[in-house]
Amino acid sequence: MTRIAIIGPGAIGGTIAAWLAQNPAFSVTVCARTPFADLEVTTPSGTIVAHPEVLTDPASARVVDWVMVATKTYDVEGTGPWLDHLVGADTRVAIIQNGVEHVRLFSHLVSPERLVPVMINLPAARSAPGRIVQQRHGIIAVPAGKNGDDLVALFAHTEIEALVDPDFLSQVWIKLCSNSAAIFPALTLRATGPVWNADIEAIIRGVVEECAMVGRAEGATIAQSVVEATIESARTMSEGTRGSSLQVDRMEGHKMEIDARNGVIVRLGEKHGIATPMNRLMVTLLAASGSPWIVQAT
Ligand SMILES: NC(=O)c1ccc[n+]([C@@H]2O[C@H](COP(=O)([O-])OP(=O)(O)OC[C@H]3O[C@@H](n4cnc5c(N)ncnc54)[C@H](OP(=O)(O)O)[C@@H]3O)[C@@H](O)[C@H]2O)c1
Repeated sequence: MTRIAIIGPGAIGGTIAAWLAQNPAFSVTVCARTPFADLEVTTPSGTIVAHPEVLTDPASARVVDWVMVATKTYDVEGTGPWLDHLVGADTRVAIIQNGVEHVRLFSHLVSPERLVPVMINLPAARSAPGRIVQQRHGIIAVPAGKNGDDLVALFAHTEIEALVDPDFLSQVWIKLCSNSAAIFPALTLRATGPVWNADIEAIIRGVVEECAMVGRAEGATIAQSVVEATIESARTMSEGTRGSSLQVDRMEGHKMEIDARNGVIVRLGEKHGIATPMNRLMVTLLAASGSPWIVQAT
């Protein structure tokens, strides 16, 4: 029996837990902040239900073979008490989050050789604790090596497509390029398509070009077509489109993954001597806009 614990059973963690729990060879535990009885996930191929063990007290957790962390990046520190109880001599820890700093964010909590960064393309939303809609086919990618191979094998009997990418660094930066543009609608609380004009295009182009430049300086291969496709996607974004999780977090008055998505471009830009004025401006404005009274007024 392979023992798997998922910390943070939200949209992503809950979907992954439900898929993995379909395999009778796995014992799945979810480590939750908000309790629920069972998981019900509406997927593109039908509804799946799972009854994993649900824990809310880190002290009740036991050592497992695999931990999968699927909290938001701003909740990293809260995973510490869980990891203290779940990680034993042979445990590996997959970090399923957006951004490019999976290992850096957790290296003070888990020794880096046990950490497996995961890039996930799986749009999902939670309607209530344990109730999730997986909107499209899901893909996860991991770096090459034994840890990556073993993680991919866990998903063999799910409909989540898991693959090893020998150029994982490029993969996460390409995703960051496309995520970086979402800061504009998160700030304006409007879809970009209906208000599109040359000035907005210049701002979004600036944000994405800076991301690509910093990513390339970090060693990623990012084709110019990635930048153009991201701008095109912003140009055609229609009103009523569910905003990015950055926007949803802002509208719901939560913290936001600003640092993991755009702050990182500014920070790593500084390291490489690359100016990132557009990201710096947007990060500053969005961070300042997050106060509760503005959220209520919108
Ligand atoms: N959703 C998507 O479509 C999507 C797609 C690709 C990538 N991502 C990335 O995936 C990551 C997870 O996103 P998400 O959308 O799944 O977020 P989410 O729905 O907000 O889920 C996060 C979960 O973490 C839980 N949590 C926070 N602190 C905890 C703690 N100390 N112990 C246990 N659980 C804790 C939250 O508990 P509560 O139940 O109390 O809130 C929530 O269930 C993010 O980095 C996001 O950017 C998301």
